[in-house]
Amino acid sequence: MKKIRKAVFPVAGMGTRFLPATKASPKEMLPVVDKPLIQYAVEEAVEAGIDQMIFITGRSKRAIADHFDKAYELEHELEAKQKTKLLKIVRSIVPDYVSCIYLRQAEALGLGHAVNCALPVVGNEAFAIILADDLIDGENKPCLSQMVELYEERGQSVLGVERVPQEDTNKYGVVKATNLTKNVFKIEEIVEKPEPDKAPSNLAVVGRYILTPKIFDMLKTTGKGAGGEIQLTDAIAALLKQEQVLAYEFSGKRYDCGSKLGYLEATVEYGLKHEELSQDFRTYLQGLTASLND
Ligand code: UTP
Repeated sequence: MKKIRKAVFPVAGMGTRFLPATKASPKEMLPVVDKPLIQYAVEEAVEAGIDQMIFITGRSKRAIADHFDKAYELEHELEAKQKTKLLKIVRSIVPDYVSCIYLRQAEALGLGHAVNCALPVVGNEAFAIILADDLIDGENKPCLSQMVELYEERGQSVLGVERVPQEDTNKYGVVKATNLTKNVFKIEEIVEKPEPDKAPSNLAVVGRYILTPKIFDMLKTTGKGAGGEIQLTDAIAALLKQEQVLAYEFSGKRYDCGSKLGYLEATVEYGLKHEELSQDFRTYLQGLTASLND
């Protein structure tokens, strides 16, 4: 079995829940403390052994390519001012052996359509997909590394899942699945955004996937689904009829940074863990909590 070497980052969505912040700049460039969401996502892929990053971009997304590109003027300035620590940060955004490839999704027709745009670069091998607005703080190891391990053991597609409150099922793809081992399930059925009373379970698909290339055959014939968009979930539903797909309940905590509340939660918790800020931020929050309780 070939190693997973390629990750697709669909970043061509409109990010309407974050307007006006996302009017002219991508949602994936929103920083959590001092790093943009897309950098956390790329770092997670690098840790999982991936060395080809494929970004599916759209309008107003140039900032993403610029972020991973060399910044000559900035480096020159920092060098001249002998700001070596900052220079190191700016130069080590991605390791040298990693290549970044940008493909354009001309129209935001849905996540399934965005993933299909990656076909010419992914070709005939299994690959990962990361949705950067799902920021996951993995327990012991990053979420994608946990999933790659399972893929290497089983050679089957793996979807990252988590249990969500029943009333939230209409925000996710939801699976009906049989438990195989502790956190591994065999998927029987998958539905996009079911209403709570129609959902087959509360196991929701989060923004981490490992898929076999057969998904591209399914995407070829996937029409518009929920919300009038070409849904990846519908292509996975078709894939299920051809081969086994696993769901993996990852260990760690997910922050839905596509929503304002999830983004604020991530900012607070990553701030509390940040090596430079941790102590001062904790003191600040303690003072704030005390004043809120007065
Ligand atoms: P979302 O459902 O979060 O949509 O897309 P969105 O446009 O980013 O945000 P809202 O809901 O309007 O606030 C899930 C993922 O799929 C990508 C998005 O960039 C996001 O990572 N996507 C979605 C595309 O790349 N292309 C699309 O046509 C749709």
